[in-house]
Amino acid sequence: MRVLVTGGAGFLGSHTVAVLLASGHDVLVMDSFASGSRTAVERAGEVSGAPLGGGRLDLVTGDVRHPEQVADRLAAFAPDAVVHFAGLKSPTESVAHPAAYYSVNVAGTAQIAEAAARAGSRVLLFSSSATVYGDEAPAPVAEDAPPAPVSPYGWSKLMAEQVVRDVHTAHPGQRAAVLRYFNPVGAHPSGRMGEDPAGEPANLMPYVARVAAGHYPELKVFGADFATRDGSAVRDFIHVMDLAEAHVATLEWMAAQAEDPGVKVWNIGRGEGVTVFEMVRAFEEVTGRPVPHRVVGLRAGDIAESCAAVDAIAAEVGWRARRGVEDMVRDLWAWQQANPGGYGDRSGPGLRSA
Ligand code: UD1
Repeated sequence: MRVLVTGGAGFLGSHTVAVLLASGHDVLVMDSFASGSRTAVERAGEVSGAPLGGGRLDLVTGDVRHPEQVADRLAAFAPDAVVHFAGLKSPTESVAHPAAYYSVNVAGTAQIAEAAARAGSRVLLFSSSATVYGDEAPAPVAEDAPPAPVSPYGWSKLMAEQVVRDVHTAHPGQRAAVLRYFNPVGAHPSGRMGEDPAGEPANLMPYVARVAAGHYPELKVFGADFATRDGSAVRDFIHVMDLAEAHVATLEWMAAQAEDPGVKVWNIGRGEGVTVFEMVRAFEEVTGRPVPHRVVGLRAGDIAESCAAVDAIAAEVGWRARRGVEDMVRDLWAWQQANPGGYGDRSGPGLRSA
């Protein structure tokens, strides 16, 4: 298939581009470069044997809110499918900048979904988040649990899910699926691609890697009084390569359906909760590096436990995550060691995008 990947220069997008290429699909990346990396796209091509500009992988700079600015490129590419990653992704930041979050994540999704349908796309995958479940849903949380976002970011993802349904109603020729990610971590096994947050990482595992590498003196553990097995918070960490493979499997499944299956909503997780302390210990054991850490107060908005019910996508698409915590840590550390300054090609922090 010919696949347009918005946000393909970001962490999740670039790894999905690599797996799409390795699976024989051709890719056009569209990215605003507000936070993505051109080098990430180049490396996705390099690790997959389909170099940028070599015929199977191309790149266009564009903003999802204004796809008409690159309409000629989109029309010329004639995508069979669109994987829409582009968006802003920090709950904390969204509290201070709600308009940016609704504009990029909601209006941007509407624009790109319609532009894709008009360009002839037959499948749309939308990047949603476990954050739509809020803090009340019991773990493991199934897709039909009532959504209850607690940040503008969470609301923007939930509203964008509705946008995807409405665009599907208007353009039923384009099948659509909503994928709700839990906690993607790790890196490409080559050590050439990984997560490259601008500035001080907000998320746990990039921070752990930078503490182990000596960039920061210690990890602050946000709370150890949760009602969990060791007091630290539980998350459903999933290897980014598993997440990337989930996209390719879903895309191929959607394209193969003779009948429109309707807008599917699936969790992308491992279905296994791991605590913050367990992740730190696993990192120390796998890498042999100490990760000094200290328990501090809670981070606003953090919940005790988040874990996915994963049987729905397994039953229909046949996809399940297959990598474990050791793989996540080993690949993250290989990336960190080989690229201590990340990709090193970005000008500024900007608003964070997926
Ligand atoms: C966060 C976002 C989520 C977003 C995801 C993107 C919140 C409330 N949720 O998920 O919406 O989709 O990132 O990847 O921000 N931790 C520490 N010390 C740190 C960093 C994190 O103890 O320096 C803890 C957190 O308190 C949390 C766990 O590690 O319990 C995971 O944190 P993080 O990696 O930021 O992910 P989430 O908060 O689950």
